[in-house]
Amino acid sequence: MIERLKEIRAAAEEKIMNASDLDSLREVKVKTLGRKGEITVLLRGLKDLAADERAETGKVGNEIKQALEQLIEEKIAEIKQREMETKLAREKIDISLPGTLIQSGSLHPLSRVANEIKDIFIGMGFSIAEGPEIEYDYYNFEALNIPKDHPARDMQDSFYISDDILLRTHTSPMQVRVMEKTAPQTPVKIIVPGKVYRRDDDATHSPMFHQVEGLVIDESITFGHLKGTLLAFAERIFEQELQVRYRPSFFPFTEPSAEMDISCVNCKGKGCRVCSYSGWLEILGAGMVNPKVLENGGYDPEKVTGFAFGLGIERIAMLKYGINDLRLFYDNDKRFLAQF
Ligand code: PHE
Repeated sequence: MIERLKEIRAAAEEKIMNASDLDSLREVKVKTLGRKGEITVLLRGLKDLAADERAETGKVGNEIKQALEQLIEEKIAEIKQREMETKLAREKIDISLPGTLIQSGSLHPLSRVANEIKDIFIGMGFSIAEGPEIEYDYYNFEALNIPKDHPARDMQDSFYISDDILLRTHTSPMQVRVMEKTAPQTPVKIIVPGKVYRRDDDATHSPMFHQVEGLVIDESITFGHLKGTLLAFAERIFEQELQVRYRPSFFPFTEPSAEMDISCVNCKGKGCRVCSYSGWLEILGAGMVNPKVLENGGYDPEKVTGFAFGLGIERIAMLKYGINDLRLFYDNDKRFLAQF
């Protein structure tokens, strides 16, 4: 039996040494050492041998089994190592190659400017209020001291949905909506960013555009507060020192009313194409809240005063980034949007 064991060992060793992959190794293992393997089957015959012969043969059999197992393990390790090496040789990674660029989107320029405007006012203690884009005639006009048939309605050609419901033409309706909620508490210090709609369509007007309304109400609020707040805002949004001037204007909901101009952000007031050679840029409308509007909102104009302003986000963004056509904001042309 020992002879037979040695033969099996020799044959197995040869197969193991010649094996070139893991599958053929597994095959050898099953055929010789498995439950029905040659050696296993052979050693079952031990019980028929004489005692001394049995011990000797058993010992040899075990040694051969162990030797073959070890040989197979070594060969497996060797093959795995070789597979790894060929894989590495084939899949060379050059870490100095440029990577694949992942295209990521970015905020729309109007969102960026709106966020900056919000941040600046939040920094000055304002909170943000938002209101409906579909608005009652009452809040859009009447509560703001613009009665039916008032010529001031012509300044804001409107999209009507029914006789008394329209797309809001400005963010000012939120003045009275906010007052109704907070009166008679003070102070009120809010901004209202949002979409507004007018029947206008050209290089500087779009039927939908964005405004930010501002409203401050407290005891003893003066035009000085309005000027200080808006100068601080303008210098921060345009990131430069500015001159400002106020021209008398008219809004039925403020009294007195004014347009605020800033020294041209492009030429610093010397005169250029951007400011039509005037040195000034109109950037917003503002004024002291009309006592009638305070009353409509539930405040006592004998006790409190307020200021309000409204600015166009598109206008600020155009000046900030030197954009000369408003329609670029809505064309969704990636060549334009990718610049921000
Ligand atoms: N609502 C005005 C407009 O859209 C702007 C404005 C707001 C003026 C608040 C004064 C006070 O033209």
